[in-house]
Amino acid sequence: MDADELGWMFGISELPAYIQQVNYELNSALAQDSSLLEPSKRVISGGKRLRPILVIAAALSQGGKFNNGVASGAAAVELAHLSSLVHDDIMDEADVRRNLPTVNSAEGVGTALMVGDSLLNKAYAQASKVSAEVVYELATATDKMCDAQEQEYLDRYNTGRSIDSYKAVIRGKTALLMAVACKIGGLAADLPAKQVKALGDYGESFGIAFQLIDDVLDLTSTSELMRKRTGNDIKEGVYTLSVLLALKEPSGYQLKAWLAKRPTSQRDLSKMVHILISSGTIEATIAEARRYNAVAASALKGFEFTDVIKGLARLPDAYTNLILQKQTLR
Ligand code: IPE
Ligand code: IPE
Ligand code: MG
Ligand code: MG
Ligand code: MG
Repeated sequence: MDADELGWMFGISELPAYIQQVNYELNSALAQDSSLLEPSKRVISGGKRLRPILVIAAALSQGGKFNNGVASGAAAVELAHLSSLVHDDIMDEADVRRNLPTVNSAEGVGTALMVGDSLLNKAYAQASKVSAEVVYELATATDKMCDAQEQEYLDRYNTGRSIDSYKAVIRGKTALLMAVACKIGGLAADLPAKQVKALGDYGESFGIAFQLIDDVLDLTSTSELMRKRTGNDIKEGVYTLSVLLALKEPSGYQLKAWLAKRPTSQRDLSKMVHILISSGTIEATIAEARRYNAVAASALKGFEFTDVIKGLARLPDAYTNLILQKQTLR
């Protein structure tokens, strides 16, 4: 799903051009003489730009125009997202993202720490071009993200990880940044506080569904399709909803004993996925994501039903359908 397709879905034919402008802002934020330039350029390249698209759609949802404030808000959220990916890849010991080597694997953990920090600082600098409130919103979301990532880290290899704790983590690490993307769009367009809040609620539910599906795909998809290494969650001891639900089944003790061996090979992972598919917990996780998609859409009920609002309401389920359809085509 690229900016062309989404532009059509939102009735914003200029969306690809707006994303070009955001890309220009992202590249201009990099200092040409910086020792972090090469890895930062690699991190900025590629990516769906989902969060900037949310900022723009939220800003234009009630007739607002794309302007410098919207472009800076969109660049700010994307820079914070990119920073979080670099730090996430350190924590997850990931070697590939978007088919490119991660900074931790190519240049080392120290460089990755600095690239992630530098991108986050640039995010706040961009946000300051919009308003102090936007800086505050972004800072609050990224702070909660740190907390959630740490909680996930502390819960590694914990087969007793609770579903409540898992949900709080995906809300904090993924959903709140998507919420803030939608809110920043609303703030940049000077929408009333009630609408800004509703846009945030939309982004939060979409974000939870988005992470639920990412977690399913880590189990069931291929590294080629995801352009990052799948099977990594189990390998790193990050037990996501499908696994936690299966552990609660009567036969869960077998799974627990098996996980205690810390399986890492492709063969082990296939066996695991087979257990999850037959226990129905992969399907249950997808159904849970669809419930959150519906909650996201219902958060937009109070808005004037513009093409953009209609597009936003359809987006979560359309994204789920598209990405799952890709899997069956492999
Ligand atoms: C990846 O997000 C991190 C998660 C929250 C799962 P995206 O899938 O939006 O990453 P890019 O920017 O498009 O690569
Ligand atoms: C999302 O979780 C992490 C962030 C919000 C940064 P994952 O660890 O599952 O993300 P991927 O799969 O590496 O993109
Ligand atoms: Mg990761
Ligand atoms: Mg992670
Ligand atoms: Mg993942």
